[in-house]
Amino acid sequence: MSESTLHKRKSDHIDLAFLSQVSENDTRFIYEPALSGLDRGIFQSEIVFGSKKLNAPLWISSMTGGAEKALLINTNLAKAAKYFGLGMGLGSCRPILDPNSDCSDFNLRDLIGSQPLFGNLGIAQLNELMIASNSQSVVTMLKRIDADGLIIHINPLQEWFQPEGDAYGKSPIEVIKWVLSWADFPVIVKEVGQGMGPKSISELLQLPLLALDFGALGGTNFSFLENQRREDLRKDEWKGAVKLGHTADEMANWVNCVYEDPNIQVRTANIIVSGGIKSFLDGYYFKQKLKMPSIYAQASQMLKYAIQGEKELFNYIESQLQGLNMAHQFLSIRK
Ligand SMILES: Cc1cc2nc3c(=O)[nH]c(=O)nc-3n(C[C@H](O)[C@H](O)[C@H](O)COP(=O)(O)O)c2cc1C
Repeated sequence: MSESTLHKRKSDHIDLAFLSQVSENDTRFIYEPALSGLDRGIFQSEIVFGSKKLNAPLWISSMTGGAEKALLINTNLAKAAKYFGLGMGLGSCRPILDPNSDCSDFNLRDLIGSQPLFGNLGIAQLNELMIASNSQSVVTMLKRIDADGLIIHINPLQEWFQPEGDAYGKSPIEVIKWVLSWADFPVIVKEVGQGMGPKSISELLQLPLLALDFGALGGTNFSFLENQRREDLRKDEWKGAVKLGHTADEMANWVNCVYEDPNIQVRTANIIVSGGIKSFLDGYYFKQKLKMPSIYAQASQMLKYAIQGEKELFNYIESQLQGLNMAHQFLSIRK
């Protein structure tokens, strides 16, 4: 290190010392500084996810498609997934269920290489397809984009809040079982930001899913978002309901209970912890807390940087994977 760099650093320390007082600790973790060397590189570890491999336990949650900025955002996300060896869910593929539709926003296979790329459909569309006994549209749609599997989002509260939202008659469990009865591809089931309670978790974990993705309360909240799009009296009268749902912490506890219950046969292979995962610390915490194999996922954090550009997104993911490496070296969670 040059003398001028050292001098500048010492001067910064004096200037910033009074602005750097922290009196709280993150009580989720135990920190052991004396037991490990410090490697400042990124976390890399081969993780088996179905028939595919990830280099880190990080998933890019389903987001946009079919909107103006979608192609640029999806391009940046897919390139990052390939570079860092991550997996990615697409936003709702409803617009490309029609085989004559333009699917260029969703056609990311060349960019993402062999990393996992999953299509996405809402439970309301699948309800309609089930009633019409039309599984072929889903198969064709996934083939058009060369997807590795399907993510099904369950979002009744979002639909309820959405001014133009759908209704559906059959229960999501019934519809998912229908999909599993003919699907020859892996299926992931998620909420979109309200999470789900213990009975839903228990029922879903007993299905042969590749993953149950929390979509927990605590981050992007689609009920809140849709309510802000309303212009009628319900905008005020319904707003208390945006807080309904469950956090990732609550859900992790319920998953552990189901997993350890000798009377329940868990057939789901993985958990994806998502919904309000702000950083590697949250991700690491939940990975340590869960007794089932798990990875974690982010939507809005990825979006924030993917909109800015490829360089910004790569920089963000690199910083997160460096953080994850630090966490593995020095942190364990309090039991
Ligand atoms: C702009 C945007 C669009 C989204 N679109 C979808 C979607 O089409 N399908 C879906 O399953 N989830 C969708 N989500 C929900 C996310 O996948 C995720 O479950 C939710 O945002 C919570 O994660 P977060 O707190 O990290 O943002 C979307 C999220 C964002 C921010």
